[in-house]
Amino acid sequence: MPPDPTFAPTQLAARAAYLLRGNDLGTMTTAAPLLYPHMWSWDAAFVAIGLAPLSVERAVVELDTLLSAQWHNGMIPHIVFANGVDGYFPGPARWACASLTPNAPTNRHTSGITQPPVHAIAVQRILDHARTRGRSTRAVAESFLDRRWSDLVRWHRWLAEARDPNERGRVTLYHGWESGMDNSPRWDSSYANVVPGDVPPYEREDNKVNTDASQRPSDLEYDRYLWLLEEMKSARYDDVLLPKAMSFAVEDVFVSAILSVACTVLAEIGEDYKRPHADVRDLYAWAERFRMGVVEAADQRTGAARDYDTRTEKWIQTETVAQFAPLLCGGLPHDRERALLRLLEGPRFCGHPDLEYGLIPSTSPVSRDFRAREYWRGPVWPVVGWLFSWCFARRGWAERAAVLRREGLRQASDGTFAEYYEPFTGEPLGSMQQSWTAAAVLDWLG
Ligand code: SER
Repeated sequence: MPPDPTFAPTQLAARAAYLLRGNDLGTMTTAAPLLYPHMWSWDAAFVAIGLAPLSVERAVVELDTLLSAQWHNGMIPHIVFANGVDGYFPGPARWACASLTPNAPTNRHTSGITQPPVHAIAVQRILDHARTRGRSTRAVAESFLDRRWSDLVRWHRWLAEARDPNERGRVTLYHGWESGMDNSPRWDSSYANVVPGDVPPYEREDNKVNTDASQRPSDLEYDRYLWLLEEMKSARYDDVLLPKAMSFAVEDVFVSAILSVACTVLAEIGEDYKRPHADVRDLYAWAERFRMGVVEAADQRTGAARDYDTRTEKWIQTETVAQFAPLLCGGLPHDRERALLRLLEGPRFCGHPDLEYGLIPSTSPVSRDFRAREYWRGPVWPVVGWLFSWCFARRGWAERAAVLRREGLRQASDGTFAEYYEPFTGEPLGSMQQSWTAAAVLDWLG
């Protein structure tokens, strides 16, 4: 049985705000209290989106903290570690970034990989909220933009150059964690070719927090995750050496679509706030390049997008939420876009008759790979619904955006703010009190 919807919108918003306050360490908000006790890159962007309606000033602090840990090559690392906090593995000692590369900051411990570039969306939401406030709040948002504009452009440039050196229009990832969708079936065939060598001994922390191991990636998966870390360290996290050093290298169509959208959003901000023409021009060019890369990855008939394994030189076809990447950034011919929308809304995804809510499961319930409770292999992730609803609104699909918002809020009304939900029962899974789930709710209700 699904938990009874309990909280009315005003109560739910109050609880979401209270949750973010509880997860706030001062200048960073932990992704979740126990399972993720540090700052994660794309979580931080969504957190800033949730904070913006509460306090533009605090939302700005969140992005400032993240950007102050940006690497010298432009990469935003996927984790910024909270000082003196244990309980998460792999922690700073395992990554050892600052001792291996001059690109890593020395004032902060970070991981050595990256995560999806949703940050420009957060900047836009902050500016949107600031425009409705008084002069001093507007000044805070605008001085943030002055201070961080070049860092944001550097971030996008790093993705476009270091991670797409051949200008194929798709971002290459060297670790499944970089996709944010760690154990998605998208990566199974590529991980099958990762043969762990001598992985230094380790102890997982995640399964001590979430003791139902069926909700988390397996030990075999973790061995591969940790082996890839060793490969990266052997290349000293060097952008030029990674392509040769890594046994996992995939072009991620979902991250590429996000980058395309983010480049457009940042370019529009640049135009509105009179940033250098050269930056705006580069951003629009990247937006177009990655849009084309996504379109090229789409099936000729269905429009469903595929990832690409650069090791085996094969397209990766799986029935996951990433198939819908072209709906985020646009660019498909009209008939194919219609076909892809039918796929999204039909019985293989949101229209599956047994779903508790009309939301997008991370993996199609009719896929052989589907597992209802296991992380990115089936559960519904609220923040993904938020991303689609925001992109759909932007694309002029108000009705579709409203449906995702309505269903997302129905699911969230249990008040657990879970990391992910079982698609057929609505059971909250993973971490409870996940910051980005609260943030999505706050934006929807704001
Ligand atoms: N999502 C990963 C984890 O579960 C790391 O980014 O720890």
